[in-house]
Amino acid sequence: MSKYDYLVVGAGLFGAVFAHEAALRGKHVKVIEKRSHVAGNIYTKEIDGIQVHQYGAHIFHTSDKQIWDYVNQFAEFNRYTNSPVANYKGHMYNLPFNMNTFSELWGVRTPAEAKAKIQAQKDAAKLAGEPKNLEEQAISLIGTDIYEKLVKGYTEKQWGQKATDLPAFIIRRLPVRYTFDNNYFNDTYQGIPIGGYTQIVEKMLDHPEIDVETGVDFFADKDQYLQDYPKVIFTGMIDQYFNYQLGELEYRSLRFESEELDIDNYQGNAVINYTDAETPFTRIIEHKHFEFGKGDSDKTVITREYPADWHRGDEPYYPVNNKKNNALYKRYATLANQEKQVVFGGRLGQYRYYDMHQVIHAALVLVNQEFI
Ligand code: FDA
Repeated sequence: MSKYDYLVVGAGLFGAVFAHEAALRGKHVKVIEKRSHVAGNIYTKEIDGIQVHQYGAHIFHTSDKQIWDYVNQFAEFNRYTNSPVANYKGHMYNLPFNMNTFSELWGVRTPAEAKAKIQAQKDAAKLAGEPKNLEEQAISLIGTDIYEKLVKGYTEKQWGQKATDLPAFIIRRLPVRYTFDNNYFNDTYQGIPIGGYTQIVEKMLDHPEIDVETGVDFFADKDQYLQDYPKVIFTGMIDQYFNYQLGELEYRSLRFESEELDIDNYQGNAVINYTDAETPFTRIIEHKHFEFGKGDSDKTVITREYPADWHRGDEPYYPVNNKKNNALYKRYATLANQEKQVVFGGRLGQYRYYDMHQVIHAALVLVNQEFI
């Protein structure tokens, strides 16, 4: 047996919160991470004075004051407000769907005019009964214009399937707002950590009771780890842990293509979604706008995000929480419950579409269970 009380597999947000809280309670923790750096998907790296979100745009948002206070211990947050813009074949529309979008689309000026327009399109679509697929569901919620220009192409690229083949439940609701408010989130708190996200995880792990090793894959020596450590917190893929014995869960992957440009401002916004079907990427992130243009004044860094099918060995960015996968996950969760020495946590361990605030919450719930 090793000198450690816990082995944490994965130095993402879940693993880091758990390790930090365990160390504060006097536990000795070893963290192993297969990537060459800590912070998982929230990893940011400074290029030309700009904090570049290496694994996609990350905006922290929550309405839970405790979580907000918790994360603010590790970084100061700016007042960034997520207001993405859609580019549909060269026409720009504000998101989420709001009076600015409706005015840009139809020239309407009042909420009553916008509601009447959407209702007329829903009526014209003559949808009867329960929506049979994502297309019908979206049209029943927001009418044909918004669906065709701002939802269809983007969603089909994201999922790699036709909207008529995707299940309706993927879109339970679409944020429609009859005010001129471009703030994407309804949460009380949101922002970007000044100086990036990596520092948050580094500070969490910076404790004499925590040892971190990067570039180490748990599966290279799974049996030995299980022999050596009394308790394991596993934040990798649950199906991989069980050697895919019940079958593979599905994930969506992404390919990021970054460019450093010798100009000060490429697109005027942090996030621009490309909502047509022809453009192969879903969005372009211009990182300096997360920090209001901080960084070298004559440089900018942009990243194009290409959705991709997932195959073994690819990064599993998104769990695909459809009925089939959720049922399979349940069966893996039953196996996980029998594995008394191991706790499965985080996005991949619990196969759940967690945002950062939810991951912190879930890790703190585990802390409460472990250390009552
Ligand atoms: P995460 O995947 O970050 O960490 C798990 C770690 O375990 C990884 O570092 C991995 O390498 C490691 N690992 C896996 N298997 C291993 C093994 N066998 N051995 C060793 N190490 C192993 N959230 C939000 O609140 N606002 C936002 O704007 C966004 N945006 C966003 C964009 C994109 C493109 C994605 C993919 C995700 C988001 N998120 C988000 C979600 C956010 O990234 C997520 O909530 C957290 O990163 C999840 O933290 P975890 O620790 O669960 O997983």
